[in-house]
Amino acid sequence: MSSIFSSFGRDIGMDIGTVNTHVYVEGRGVVLSEPSVVATDAKQKNIVAVGDEAERMLLKSPDMHEELHPLKDGFIVDYRVMLTMIRQFLRKAAKSIRRSRVMVSVPCGITDVEKRATLDALIQAGAREAYLVETPVAAALGAGLPVFDAIGTMAVDVGGGSTDVAVLALGGKVVGRTARIGGSDINAAILQYIQQCFSLMVADETIEMLKVELASAMPVEEEEDKRIKGRDASTGLMRDVVVRKSEIYQAIKEPVHQICQVIRSVVEQTPPELSADIMKQGIVLAGETALLSGLGEKVSEELGGIPVWVPEEPEYVVARGLGRGLEAFDQMERFFVAAKNRKGRA
Ligand SMILES: Nc1ncnc2c1ncn2[C@@H]1O[C@H](COP(=O)(O)OP(=O)(O)OP(=O)(O)O)[C@@H](O)[C@H]1O
Ligand SMILES: [Mg+2]
Repeated sequence: MSSIFSSFGRDIGMDIGTVNTHVYVEGRGVVLSEPSVVATDAKQKNIVAVGDEAERMLLKSPDMHEELHPLKDGFIVDYRVMLTMIRQFLRKAAKSIRRSRVMVSVPCGITDVEKRATLDALIQAGAREAYLVETPVAAALGAGLPVFDAIGTMAVDVGGGSTDVAVLALGGKVVGRTARIGGSDINAAILQYIQQCFSLMVADETIEMLKVELASAMPVEEEEDKRIKGRDASTGLMRDVVVRKSEIYQAIKEPVHQICQVIRSVVEQTPPELSADIMKQGIVLAGETALLSGLGEKVSEELGGIPVWVPEEPEYVVARGLGRGLEAFDQMERFFVAAKNRKGRA
């Protein structure tokens, strides 16, 4: 009997990203991880699938479907699509959310209009109460940093479209910033390099493979290469080329540097009494782009040797952090950037 009742009213955390969405359910952990994508039928423009299923449809019959992304660079660009996606993911993750509190991570510096839109979407999707927490705050919580103590801590989330950074102390945010730079910019840099250097048009999957398997944020010590296929830009014929690791390192230097600069700007704004703590404790680097080979080391180097730590499974850290936030609900007051319940009260 308890199993039936206990599935109702569980608190839920949602990390709605530009590329991926993760849903955490109280007592169960991260139960859903799917791409933040929606497929519509090309003619009617009706939404026909969400997440994994949408991705499968788009791969199988790209001519019959259109691909929509509710977010760009971490911010909502299509409210209707966002609502459908949230609803579908919540439905899939939990039997009912009528009695659930739902906590969602959002970029630093989102506008009041964007806050309201996100809260409304959650309440419309059926949540009892909705709370917004900034992404780097959730990252710090998820990494287990002592964010409620009298000590400065710092966390970064490098996602697909954005980099979110914050310094926290005593259960509140001291400095924070979201910049529209992330993993997608690294893909764009690789794509541009392959086009310019080899006059080759390649699939997105090929670029992603090069990034995951060959890219490095640190200078290359042991050369490696990969053979890739593409279409010649002038003849249109298929052709393959060999790409070296050191070339990719050069190609992605700029976006990697920009990511480091965003983090650096937050360190520079940090009050001295807290930066001493951070110099000692180090910075947590979460988000799936934290998996980029050598990124932690690069950030540390560009920040004058501050220790940088990439937690295990960095892609789930924000969602797990929301879970921890729900557990420590009574201490979260200062971290909430907005809230709403079904009666409309903020
Ligand atoms: N092994 C890997 N090495 C480097 N990058 C990776 C690796 N695996 C995934 N990525 C990149 O991580 C990014 C997705 O990260 P994540 O899921 O944290 O982003 P998101 O939360 O959807 O986006 P955002 O937080 O910016 O809204 C993609 O750009 C993807 O290419
Ligand atoms: Mg993210």
